[in-house]
Amino acid sequence: MGIAIVTGASSGIGEAFIKLIAGEDYEKIWVIARREDKLLALAEAYGKEKIVPVSADLTDPSSIDIISRKLSEEKPVIELLINCAGMGKRGTVEDNSLEDITDTIELNCVALTRLTKVCIPYMITEGRTFKTGPRILNIASSAAFLPQPGFNVYAASKAYVESFSRALQFELRKHNIGVTTVCPGPVKTGFLKKATDNKAGEFTGIRALCAADPDKLAKASYKACKRGRGLYVYKISQKALHVASKIIPSAWILWVEKVTMKQF
Ligand SMILES: NC(=O)c1ccc[n+]([C@@H]2O[C@H](COP(=O)([O-])OP(=O)(O)OC[C@H]3O[C@@H](n4cnc5c(N)ncnc54)[C@H](OP(=O)(O)O)[C@@H]3O)[C@@H](O)[C@H]2O)c1
Repeated sequence: MGIAIVTGASSGIGEAFIKLIAGEDYEKIWVIARREDKLLALAEAYGKEKIVPVSADLTDPSSIDIISRKLSEEKPVIELLINCAGMGKRGTVEDNSLEDITDTIELNCVALTRLTKVCIPYMITEGRTFKTGPRILNIASSAAFLPQPGFNVYAASKAYVESFSRALQFELRKHNIGVTTVCPGPVKTGFLKKATDNKAGEFTGIRALCAADPDKLAKASYKACKRGRGLYVYKISQKALHVASKIIPSAWILWVEKVTMKQF
């Protein structure tokens, strides 16, 4: 038995992961996000002895230092790390604030990388096979497949997550640690509302048709992660987009994106 660490646990997909793994054989689950009340509610719902709330703003580099210190004091075995915290702001680079742009990169790329780095030593254990070894599950997005005018920094940050995680999969194989990169398309969470500063609450048009349920996504991703899958693109619509992004000239797709960029 070891512990699980989940970022972005206070809502949406991260919360769905907590619901899913609360009954699994983890000694403790460290739940990380800023909203402490939400984390305390998780402890209330799933057991205070199991759920360990860690309230932290991951855009602040010192937050990873605090988590790193907690790890070196407690020296747990980490069985599962889920990097789910993420943000994005709709709009062009010209229009978005410098703070939003910086926070997106700090949270989606820097914090994810630094947290992974400080967790790896606690995942390396003797006598494990790949089948039963520890797991890292990183939430990227189908936004990683192509540049996105109007959601530029977010898509670029997720391309980083995909590239980083897929290479990490090969780097950590020798320790029997599995790394799964999950690429969902639109998911029905509060993400869109925050991304549009409350201008849009729900996906419309084609995005509404392929929007995923967070609980189903968490369940399928966790299964893929346990199986040691490297890349998991969720839903047939996103698989099609993934294939299209490899074979259709990106300039054509970018043109379509530019035409549709005002739609959510
Ligand atoms: N929803 C979608 O359509 C969609 C599609 C593809 C990929 N994704 C990805 O899925 C992941 C989860 O998003 P979601 O859809 O579940 O949205 P969400 O409900 O907005 O969840 C975002 C999570 O990240 C945490 N977070 C945000 N800023 C943070 C910060 N500065 N420090 C620490 N934690 C922070 C939030 O907690 P606090 O606010 O309490 O800090 C929350 O728990 C993200 O990486 C997102 O990019 C989402």
